[in-house]
Amino acid sequence: MVFLIISDIYTLFLTGLGCTECPVFTPSALVVKYGDPASVTCDVCQKDCSEDVFGLEHPVGKVTGHGTTMIWTVDRLTEWGISVMCYYNNGAGDQCCSALDLSIYQPPESVSISFVNHTGMMFENQQYTLQCSVQNVAPVQSLTVTFYRGNTALGHLQSNHSEEKKPVNETFTLNINSSREDDGAQYCCEAKLELGPAGPQPPPVVTSEKLNLTLQRKSEKLKVNKIVIYPSETSKTLLTVKKDKSSPVDLCCNVSDSQALCLRLPPESVSISFVNHTGMMFENQQYTLQCSVQNVAPVQSLTVTFYRGNIAKGHLQSNSEQKKPVNETFTLNITPSREDDGAQYWCETKLELGPDGPQRPPVVTSEKLPAIVHYVITITEGDTLHLNCSSVGNPSPSYTWTLPTNSPSYSGSVLTIKSVGFEHEGQYICTVSNTVGTVTKEFNIDVQGECCQILPGKRVTEVQSQYYFTN
Ligand SMILES: *[C@@H]1O[C@H](CO)[C@@H](O)[C@H](O)[C@H]1NC(C)=O
Ligand SMILES: *[C@@H]1O[C@H](CO)[C@@H](O)[C@H](O)[C@H]1NC(C)=O
Ligand SMILES: *[C@@H]1O[C@H](CO)[C@@H](O)[C@H](O)[C@H]1NC(C)=O
Ligand SMILES: *[C@@H]1O[C@H](CO)[C@@H](O)[C@H](O)[C@H]1NC(C)=O
Ligand SMILES: *[C@@H]1O[C@H](CO)[C@@H](O)[C@H](O)[C@H]1NC(C)=O
Ligand SMILES: *[C@@H]1O[C@H](CO)[C@@H](O)[C@H](O)[C@H]1NC(C)=O
Ligand SMILES: *[C@@H]1O[C@H](CO)[C@@H](O)[C@H](O)[C@H]1NC(C)=O
Ligand SMILES: *[C@@H]1O[C@H](CO)[C@@H](O)[C@H](O)[C@H]1NC(C)=O
Ligand SMILES: *[C@@H]1O[C@H](CO)[C@@H](O)[C@H](O)[C@H]1NC(C)=O
Repeated sequence: MVFLIISDIYTLFLTGLGCTECPVFTPSALVVKYGDPASVTCDVCQKDCSEDVFGLEHPVGKVTGHGTTMIWTVDRLTEWGISVMCYYNNGAGDQCCSALDLSIYQPPESVSISFVNHTGMMFENQQYTLQCSVQNVAPVQSLTVTFYRGNTALGHLQSNHSEEKKPVNETFTLNINSSREDDGAQYCCEAKLELGPAGPQPPPVVTSEKLNLTLQRKSEKLKVNKIVIYPSETSKTLLTVKKDKSSPVDLCCNVSDSQALCLRLPPESVSISFVNHTGMMFENQQYTLQCSVQNVAPVQSLTVTFYRGNIAKGHLQSNSEQKKPVNETFTLNITPSREDDGAQYWCETKLELGPDGPQRPPVVTSEKLPAIVHYVITITEGDTLHLNCSSVGNPSPSYTWTLPTNSPSYSGSVLTIKSVGFEHEGQYICTVSNTVGTVTKEFNIDVQGECCQILPGKRVTEVQSQYYFTN
């Protein structure tokens, strides 16, 4: 046996000198799947075989044959990176040898596709990275990975592991820019082992599962719980919001370059008051009620209704063209009569947004404003007078009366004078209060002599004034 160094360079060096021919393998190249059987024949030499020193180096398997024809066989090839060498020594003392062109392959055990660092919704015009993971493939330098969108190949990639013979796991990535056409597209990747003419035909191919891409259009309606509105000219945020119970905003529309803001939102607050007036009113005089609406948009979709009790007194609308939220005041003139004493005034706002708007237009109402109307009660001497100040409230209100001079104090809801005399003339003030508030009612009593009476006999005059306290 000759000591033989299995090194390609050294072997070539030895073979190159004085060797007129080299051992020949049949087939010339062997491509074997890991674990499969293999067999190759080596014809050591044709004419220059004067010496009888020859052989076939084989780390695995066995060699059979006769003379200078040797057959190497292996039942299961399960060694990576082995060399098989056939050699002889010629008459000139040179060693002539050939190495078998042997490659062992393993098709990918699995191929899978995914997005790198991304879960959840995907949007148009963004860059995403696709990743194709190939497991246990050898030799990786013969591998080509192709990404596909539908049937269109997007790019071929190869490994950088140029030397590795054993199976490896490798990941290949591809950046994609999402476009509208990607919505519903299917991506996949394919791993192909191209092992040359001696390899299996067609080459082994393993394809990943399909990855469905679903893009959210940015204009698509989204449910939100809270919206922060930046009502500035430079704000170009696109907001389209579906009505959501928990949202304070009922509808927003897109904000384009030309329209800084066209959000639609019900008034932040609505309140009612008198213009330039506080306290009691006098009969048959004109007063102005005002309904103040804050931060509403668009104000031209707003209808304001004034109410006295349950009766609508007038509908009003704005003349403003403003699209941004505004504060606006709506007014109504009233001329109260004594029947209006104790009545409650309030206003209601409704944002009517048409068919695209919420089914039930957002309604915001003001607090209730009680009307206190001052008038003079004329009563005949000797008649009975009931001043009824009883009011409704929660908690139950208490009453305090301020009476004309020389009268005892009183704290009931109804003040009764059995027989009215001239000494009873004057101002009776009933103060009704609870924790919610205090209302003061004045009764002004004018007593007429019996002489002026058209019909004789005693009568009872009842004056009633009722206020409401609610919270
Ligand atoms: C994925 O995210 C992690 C953590 O943010 C980061 O370290 C990693 O580099 C990212 N990978 C890619 C391929 O962008
Ligand atoms: C191979 O190397 C190139 C350049 O370094 C790199 O851009 C590419 O991503 C590498 N390929 C793989 C599959 O790692
Ligand atoms: C490849 O990945 C699989 C699963 O993660 C693992 O079992 C296997 O050992 C890996 N192979 C190599 C060569 O790293
Ligand atoms: C994706 O878009 C970015 C920025 O617009 C660009 O730089 C990149 O080349 C695009 N990539 C592909 C694969 O089209
Ligand atoms: C991807 O889309 C196809 C066809 O539209 C469908 O049959 C398949 O179930 C989808 N796969 C997933 C994971 O959604
Ligand atoms: C915003 O609305 C306007 C008018 O309705 C429309 O022309 C425009 O395309 C919309 N902009 C976006 C980004 O959807
Ligand atoms: C309220 O009174 C002020 C001062 O008396 C007056 O300037 C203003 O015009 C009045 N407002 C209305 C709405 O009448
Ligand atoms: C409306 O009034 C409120 C309170 O006075 C104020 O904070 C807000 O800035 C006003 N809004 C507009 C649009 O004038
Ligand atoms: C006072 O007025 C209230 C409310 O109208 C009524 O219920 C009550 O009976 C009146 N009391 C008297 C003594 O007339």
